[in-house]
Amino acid sequence: MAENIRVDFNKPSLMGNEMAYIQEAIERRHISGDGTFTKRSQEYLQQALGVPRALLATNCTHALEMAALLLDIQPGDEVIAPSFTFVSTINAFVLRGAKPVFIDIRPDTLNLNEQLLEERITSRTRAILPVHYAGVGCEMDTIMEIANRRQISVVEDNAHGLFGKYKSRFLGTFGALATQSFHETKNITCGEGGALLINDPQYIDRAEILREKGTNRSRFFQGMVDKYTWVDIGSSYVLSDILAAFLFAQLEVSAQIQEKRKRIWNFYDQHLHAWGKAQNVQTPFVPEHCEQPSHMYYLLMPSLKIRQAFIARLREQGIYTVFHYLPLHLSNMGMEYGGKAGDCPVTEDVSDRLVRLPFYNSLTEEEQSLVIEAVTNFCL
Ligand SMILES: Cc1ncc(COP(=O)(O)O)c(C=O)c1O
Repeated sequence: MAENIRVDFNKPSLMGNEMAYIQEAIERRHISGDGTFTKRSQEYLQQALGVPRALLATNCTHALEMAALLLDIQPGDEVIAPSFTFVSTINAFVLRGAKPVFIDIRPDTLNLNEQLLEERITSRTRAILPVHYAGVGCEMDTIMEIANRRQISVVEDNAHGLFGKYKSRFLGTFGALATQSFHETKNITCGEGGALLINDPQYIDRAEILREKGTNRSRFFQGMVDKYTWVDIGSSYVLSDILAAFLFAQLEVSAQIQEKRKRIWNFYDQHLHAWGKAQNVQTPFVPEHCEQPSHMYYLLMPSLKIRQAFIARLREQGIYTVFHYLPLHLSNMGMEYGGKAGDCPVTEDVSDRLVRLPFYNSLTEEEQSLVIEAVTNFCL
């Protein structure tokens, strides 16, 4: 292998008109929130996904916090989430006083195991938070049937899954609310950014208030009130139009971005799927009825020890791979809520063994070949 190789895990790139639109935002003299590019991005998401309202937010974490506020989560309410997820999924609800209830994941898709859902529901359960891991849809038919029957709200954490589909329907369009991330590791990005998708229109008006510091500023700008004032609790969740300009430039070429990423995902899978089978290394599983948006490619190594050796070995060769998530039920906070080893065995196992390969829009076939060579040369 050639010397001085470096394949990063993630690398930002310009995909279209990012710089021109940032300049345009400045020339329009509107670089705070709710400018032209915020509106264009929101309209784009609404049309592309067919959701009644999409609101840009500073990040997915804040969109989740808005969801918890909109559902009026109160101290003592219980909220069910997979243990195998990013902290923000549940922390947004714990901030309102909710008690987290963690459930295990399916060993195939690494999504919340819908078969375990019903037994964790109590009279205090207020929300279920399916996370579409790697943009592969959770079993939404079962989850929505249970949630509707038990009158529990569903908030989809779709941080990974923009443009993914479950049974031909876009992820993020099932729950009353859903959240997106435009963090730099995501397919479509503006560095830090997010969106709240509102599928149940009863939440639209209040969402506009919450994000504007608890004021009816949006209604003022729409000419619906003659002055704006403090009407509810809230915070500042609007995205600067500079970032929205960057984001819109990526959204408008999202079809090309998705095509590029599909090629990258397929190239990994073509070269690693059979190798993985032979080596007892699990590669991503996508059920027939799901369309995944090529967000990530991961391997499940046979053990923690092998995973750590693998990451170190590839790093020596200039190839950067990462692992995530540490089981939330075993985190300091999770244990304060009663979490203990053995509660979510699949999560505990997967968390030790998962490793993500370099994946970004400008990853070349040459770079990918270096990664594949390093992976398949690693002696298990
Ligand atoms: C499943 C999940 N939810 C939420 C987040 C938080 O996203 P953000 O960084 O946009 O706040 C992440 C971060 O990557 C995530 O993986």
